[in-house]
Amino acid sequence: MTEPSAAGSPVLYAEGLVHHYGQEQILGGIHLQVSPGEVVALLGPSGSGKSTLIHLIAGLERPRSGHIWWLDQEISGQSPERVSRLRARMLGIVLQQPHLVPELNTLDNVFLASLVARKGDRGRARQLLDQVGLLGRAQQYPAVLSGGERSRAALARALMSEPALLLADEPTGNLDLASSQRMMDLLVQAARASGAAVLLATHNPLLAEQADRRLYLEDGKLAQLGAPS
Ligand SMILES: Nc1ncnc2c1ncn2[C@@H]1O[C@H](COP(=O)(O)OP(=O)(O)O)[C@@H](O)[C@H]1O
Ligand SMILES: [Mg+2]
Repeated sequence: MTEPSAAGSPVLYAEGLVHHYGQEQILGGIHLQVSPGEVVALLGPSGSGKSTLIHLIAGLERPRSGHIWWLDQEISGQSPERVSRLRARMLGIVLQQPHLVPELNTLDNVFLASLVARKGDRGRARQLLDQVGLLGRAQQYPAVLSGGERSRAALARALMSEPALLLADEPTGNLDLASSQRMMDLLVQAARASGAAVLLATHNPLLAEQADRRLYLEDGKLAQLGAPS
């Protein structure tokens, strides 16, 4: 097994990822890498394993075999505690359901992430809320936010740790077209402005079009769309 070369070091490097649930093979040897500042869309039919792949890459589940690097850290062999610490420092994760804490206002939901990551302060939380267009909502509670606003709050929270790798699993799943596009713009902006590598699972081809590369997951295999075969 060769380590990723230092030249043009990818933020995410995964090779030979195999995963099963019970007898069923979900992922049959996945190889992928995402570079700093790059936005990669992950497409594929419902049930093809996009979320499974995102979970493996996030270190939330272990693959049956294969290896995953976040920058120069190989996470596959590390203890769960070590993976959690690295995740808090290096990754931002946005899921379809924003999972905001209902008892905290928008600002504190974002600020909370800084405690976990041991990075940033309320000032940075405000700055991020401003960036995602929610500064006016800082004192309001998740219950009164729209779906799009909650998703943007979840994105601000994910950016709190200045993640090298931003993973988004259908972050626009429940949003209308305008809100989805706004989320996409913010993901692209996060990549361009801070050099984050972005991996976005989506079933929306209009959003995927706007990524730098598009990957298609089917039958446990990953293919690059629009690339010469
Ligand atoms: N925790 C789990 N236990 C058993 N099967 C699962 C689990 N999570 C997902 N699956 C199955 O794995 C397959 C891929 O699911 P998923 O990764 O959620 O696909 P996608 O995100 O592309 O819709 C599906 O058949 C799903 O039912
Ligand atoms: Mg999914």
